[in-house]
This record gives sequence, C-alpha cells and structure tokens, in this order.
Amino acid sequence: MVNIGIIGFGTVGTGTARILLGNKDIISQRIGFEINLKRIADLDIKKDRGIRLPEGILTKNADDVLNDPEIDIVVELIGGIRPAKDFILKAIRNKKHVVTANKALLATEGNEIFSEAEKNEVDVGFEASVAGGIPIIKIIKEGLVANKVLAVYGIINGTSNYILTKMTDDKVEFSEALKEAQRLGYAEADPTYDIEGIDSAHKLAILASLSYSIPLSFNEIYKEGITKITAQDIEFAWELGYKIKLLAIAKSLDSKIELRVHPTMIPKDYFISKVDGVFNAIYVQGDAVGDTLYYGRGAGDMPTGSAVVADIVDIGKKIVTSYKLQVTSHEKNSGPQTHISRLNSLLVARHSSLKIKKMEDIEAMYYFRFSAFDKPGVLSRISGVLGEYNISIASVIQKGRRVGEAVPLIVLTHTARERDVIKAIAEIDRLPIVADKTLYIRVEGKEQ
Ligand code: HSE
Repeated sequence: MVNIGIIGFGTVGTGTARILLGNKDIISQRIGFEINLKRIADLDIKKDRGIRLPEGILTKNADDVLNDPEIDIVVELIGGIRPAKDFILKAIRNKKHVVTANKALLATEGNEIFSEAEKNEVDVGFEASVAGGIPIIKIIKEGLVANKVLAVYGIINGTSNYILTKMTDDKVEFSEALKEAQRLGYAEADPTYDIEGIDSAHKLAILASLSYSIPLSFNEIYKEGITKITAQDIEFAWELGYKIKLLAIAKSLDSKIELRVHPTMIPKDYFISKVDGVFNAIYVQGDAVGDTLYYGRGAGDMPTGSAVVADIVDIGKKIVTSYKLQVTSHEKNSGPQTHISRLNSLLVARHSSLKIKKMEDIEAMYYFRFSAFDKPGVLSRISGVLGEYNISIASVIQKGRRVGEAVPLIVLTHTARERDVIKAIAEIDRLPIVADKTLYIRVEGKEQ
C-alpha cells in the first residue's frame, strides 16, 4: 500500500479525491497494490465538495500531511507560488515524493525544486501541469524519447481558445467573448494569465525543457496575448485561408530554439486549426516518428485529476518495486540497493547546449492590419516601406470605400524577419496616411 496526502481541496483536489476513491478498485486491479488517500489538508474543511470522504481525513494543517511519517507522496494542489513552494520543499526535505499540477511554480522555480528533489532522492510528478488530461509529459519523456524533437506547437490554454472560438463562431468582439467565458467559469475574474499568454508560456517552458533538454526558461519565452485581436481580423484571416489560435511554439532551427507564445494564423485545413472551445491540442514533430497530434481537455477537476492520479500511480509503482528490491537484496545479505530508490526526480538528466533564439531573429510570414486613410497612393507608400525592409507582399485586401476615413488595409507577406518587420511597422506608423497603430499576426504553415 502507498499512502498519499493531498494539500489543496479545490477543484483539482476534489477531482483527484473523487477518482482515487471512485476508481480505487479499478486502479488497484491494474497495478496490484492499493493507493490509500490518507489525509487532505485545506484551510476550508467545512465546505461541501459533493464527495463522501472517509472519517477524519480532513485537516486544516498542511503539516499533518507534510510531517506524517506514513505518507509517501504529497500531492500539492493549491496552485500559486507561496505557500505552495514551501510545502513542496518541506515535503522533499522530509523525503516524500511530490505530485503537483502547479505550472506557474514549476516554470518559474522548477530548477530549484527539481535539484532539491534530486539531492533528496525523491521524485516530482507534474503530468497535470500541462494540458490537463492529455498525458503529454509522458509522451515526450517516454513515448517519443527516441526522437530529436523538431517542433512542438500547442493550444495549451483552454480559456483563450474558448474566447477565440466564440469570436469566430458568433462574430463577437474580444470583450464580449471574455465576459461569456467568465460567466461559464472558463475564465477567472482576473483573466490576465490566460489572455496575455502567460499561462501558455508557463506550460511551454515545461514542454521545451523536456523536448530540448534545456533548463526551464520561462523568462526567455516571447509572450503576446489575444487582447488586440478583433472579430474583423478573424474574418480577414478566414478569407485568406487561416484560423487564429493562441499558439505556444517551440522549434529547433540552426541549433537554436525558438520559444514563443502569440496569436498565430494557421491554415484552416490543419488538424490543430480545428481544435475549438476549451479543448487543448499539442502537435509534436519528431525526426523519427514524424507528425503526431494529441487532443483533449486541458483543464477541469476530472481531466486534471486523471493526470494527477497517473503520477501518483507511477511513483507508487516505483516505491513498491524499490521496496521489493530492497527486501530481496537484504535477504541475499548484500545490503539494500539504495540506487534503486533513486527515482526519476530530474526534469532532464543532462542539459543540452542549445541556445534560445532572440525574437528579433525569428522568421515568419506576417498578417498586417494597417489603419490607413482611403486615398490614392496609400498602398504604394506602405508597400514602398515594406520593400525597403525586404518584406515581400503575398496578398492584399481592402474592403469598403470611405473617402477621407481610415479603413483596414490587410497585407499578407512572404517569409520575413521579425527585426525588419518591427522597423518597417514603426516607420509606417509614423506616416500621416496611417491613423492608428498597425496590428500584426505571425503566420505558420507553408508559403502560399
Ligand atoms: N486557464 C487554464 C486553461 C487552466 O484554460 O488552460 C488550465 O491550466
């Protein structure tokens, strides 16, 4: 039997407990031993969570979990940086294995947490930290371990995907779609992390670390959210053959890695373009396996709980195996094989020498929405500046006629360098024929 204690009895904590209790028999049939939910700590132990718990397992004191010598695995599900980090470090120093869903903590403080786990020879499971119910951590760490990862593209924030889908389907603006997401409980009262690409970047830091054997590099990820996208951009994109998604991108080119989160136009016939609503999807391209795609729910009590329990089972199996091996070797009088109990605490075993590319050095195709006055010669002024910076135009759309007023002028480019785009747009935005700041969206896919 393996004993676990949960800290944090919120949405994911409740889902985890429900799965552990409800699927107890199925799980123990599969693994051959029992996972025993021994304690749950939360500041609020009065609230009815709609789940029948065995008598006496709730406590207000996290130390009842952290200091219990019988608890093998501490499951941290409170989220945020403090006190989550203190609880995890205390668990590790008490030689307990840890399972967490805390992407923000791992992305920003994970290097310290994993090194502490390594020192104390305990494991840290974090499957639930990225894309909820999609077992993407296991896929990259195990299923695709033979591959050099060429690219990872993810829709890994359900909130922003719901908002963009709502804007696309109902032709409403961002603010209205956000309100609806909040009404349905898909967006928090303060939605900053989700809509500004920060949550996606937390998850990308973890995926990139595993895929490219680099330290967690959240600060080096370029982050741009979806707040400036209009319903009109979505319509223009569609007309050009694309959908707009908030994409987290990691790809290796010329021995450098690109790490970026931003709204992205993707050809509408690509599988990942069809991932709508709160769903997540991750496309991984490996040199041996080729193209692979994973789809599922990225949030919610039960999908995330499913990933938490998978980690508990994984670590539980190692504990039981290591215990059996220690007993066997002890019986043979050769002393306990302590190396067996050195579990898989490292995020990656050894770091590669890959460097992260500066954002100005990336190359992409671009969609520009100029706000230009509708009069003769405007297009040639704008295209003149683009030409000076080596930016080649692929298509142009201008609709409607409002003499003397600003209208959206849409330009799709061939592959250009971000550094040139930044300079060209700054110059164009200073022209008197331009009424407002230009919006640009990077385009992925093949050149048309
Ligand atoms: N708000 C996040 C999402 C929660 O929608 O993906 C899961 O990390």
